[in-house]
Amino acid sequence: MDLVLLGPPGGGKGTQAKRLMEKYGLVQLSTGDMLRAAVASGSAVGKKAKAVMDAGQLVSDDIVIAIIDDRLDAPDTKNGVIFDGFPRTVAQAEALDAMMVRKGRKLDYAIEIRVPDEPIVERITGRFTCAKCGAGYHDKFQQPKAAGVCDSCGGTEFIRRADDNAETVHKRLDAYHAQTAPLLPYYQAKGNYHLVDGTKDIAEVTKDLEKILG
Ligand code: AP5
Repeated sequence: MDLVLLGPPGGGKGTQAKRLMEKYGLVQLSTGDMLRAAVASGSAVGKKAKAVMDAGQLVSDDIVIAIIDDRLDAPDTKNGVIFDGFPRTVAQAEALDAMMVRKGRKLDYAIEIRVPDEPIVERITGRFTCAKCGAGYHDKFQQPKAAGVCDSCGGTEFIRRADDNAETVHKRLDAYHAQTAPLLPYYQAKGNYHLVDGTKDIAEVTKDLEKILG
């Protein structure tokens, strides 16, 4: 099973992808995570992407399409993937369609996690992740069970993303409305589109997604 999670920055795509992975045996493919890894490694792609990401704009279609094309050839994607943060433009969606045909795969679901702009700033500025295992948390909505200790690996160091500040969030929301929202009618027209209310609490959103995925 292959699926796309659509929705605004901070809408809960990454949070939900992690909760669905185990139950359905899927791999999360987050272009944001892959680009941040490229930036951290100092690669040519990372150097190109860094300034664009820090400014809250979208990295060029060519770069992200090539990253996904490559990643889908890895054997761990065989049972199915959750695309998280990709596609983000109509050109990327068209490239993904062509890629899926070429690789003999089928996109089963395109699910929009819908959240209005108002709660997004609080969600993004409160987000932090475990430096050791990458588990995601929030100052208010998803705190570790023991303060300062990761539930998943016991790590005690946490990091916040460079682009998770109030100013950049507004730019990322502008990019979402201008460049990514046109994907919604694109998938609605294909018939594999589903909508979930992303303003519910985290566990309820997971339940709604599971109702769609079966
Ligand atoms: P990316 O890393 O994809 O960031 P994003 O889309 O801005 O999405 P986020 O990861 O911020 O949000 P999310 O929906 O995963 O929310 P999360 O679950 O963490 O991209 C970063 C940058 O890379 C882009 O700006 C761009 O420059 C570049 N890029 C990436 N992909 C690209 C592409 N395809 N093309 C071009 N450029 C690309 O949740 C957020 C917080 O809210 C968490 O703390 C969580 O605990 C909390 N939370 C989640 N759900 C709920 C809930 N239901 N109630 C309360 N709190 C919740």
